[in-house]
Amino acid sequence: SFEVELASSGQTFHIPPDKTVLEILAANGIDIPVSCEQGICGTCVTRVLRGEPDHRDLFMTDQEHAANDQFTPCCSRARSLRLVLDL
Ligand code: FES
Repeated sequence: SFEVELASSGQTFHIPPDKTVLEILAANGIDIPVSCEQGICGTCVTRVLRGEPDHRDLFMTDQEHAANDQFTPCCSRARSLRLVLDL
């Protein structure tokens, strides 16, 4: 599991293994635009300011994955203990 922090408010959320970032944020009233929820469409792409995403999507290119400055919260996770999101 890992944590996500919202850069604007400093709010931090714990993401357990059986939940997505999208689900946890939505449960806390933070709605990210979403469509496929499978890492295909790119609708949910969110900027990452700090931390290393564990990319699970098929939307971004290898180069975009390597940049680690955005990720798909509907399916991707984190390699670092915390991701700071531009939200
Ligand atoms: Fe489609 Fe996340 S909602 S990639």
